[in-house]
Amino acid sequence: MLIFNTQNELVSHLTSVSNAATSIGFVPTMGALHQGHLSLIKEALLHNTIVVVSIFVNPTQFNNADDLAKYPRTLEKDIEKIKTVSDAIIVYAPSVDDIYKGKTISQHFDFDGLENQMEGKFRQGHFDGVGTIVKRLFEIVKPTHAYFGEKDFQQLQIIKKMVSKFEMPVNVVGCPIYRETNGLAMSSRNERLSEKERNQAAIIFKTITQAKKLFATKSAQEVTEFVAKTFEKQPDFELEYFQIADEATLLPCLRKNKTKTYRAFIAVFVNKVRLIDTISLN
Ligand code: PAF
Repeated sequence: MLIFNTQNELVSHLTSVSNAATSIGFVPTMGALHQGHLSLIKEALLHNTIVVVSIFVNPTQFNNADDLAKYPRTLEKDIEKIKTVSDAIIVYAPSVDDIYKGKTISQHFDFDGLENQMEGKFRQGHFDGVGTIVKRLFEIVKPTHAYFGEKDFQQLQIIKKMVSKFEMPVNVVGCPIYRETNGLAMSSRNERLSEKERNQAAIIFKTITQAKKLFATKSAQEVTEFVAKTFEKQPDFELEYFQIADEATLLPCLRKNKTKTYRAFIAVFVNKVRLIDTISLN
């Protein structure tokens, strides 16, 4: 398996092996890979001649220094996991300097308001950081298709918006959420949970599944109250937000409109570990 640590080496390799018929599938990650990431890689392998996976914990998208410091870094294990899928994957694992060239700062983006909801409200500057790194990685890798998990649905919509605004020649593909058997959405942050917390965290998916059922007959406000009450009864959990939003604009649903598709979004702390999840309501 080829592993590159600098963009110069990666670009010169990709240039030497590409021709007009080459399709590059790209899976950007921050490492601590799990089955969800591997499913994105498998999807990329099905539809492309070359697959590149980046592993880079991007400092500019963290609004909390402690969260950045504690983010799991497991490069060796990640490479072993990628090998179980295919030896032909190209891994790009750059240093902060290779990406940011001494200026570890974000570009400022206008994503037509998508960036001001939910994660954007609670994680100041997060989507500027995500936009900065994904744009830079797209410029380096020049993918034909790029694969992102729907767990970070707001991120997915923002990346689609960025690609459209900057007219980037890449097809952004959203892939279904991968879940543990108890329903917990797979996330690199799950590694920071104890066995007991992982089991308890099943309440997140259970609650949003109940919210989905309720939304068939109740208003967004009533469903939101139900979720708030559910978490009030859970001393080990702290609900940061629950929001039912229009899938396209991400604006909160104030009154149901049959022509729109809705999605529920949730962020919960379990012993200082922040977990997010989402479910389609249509
Ligand atoms: O979803 C992630 O893991 C990150 O936000 C991404 C897209 C790799 C950018 O750092």
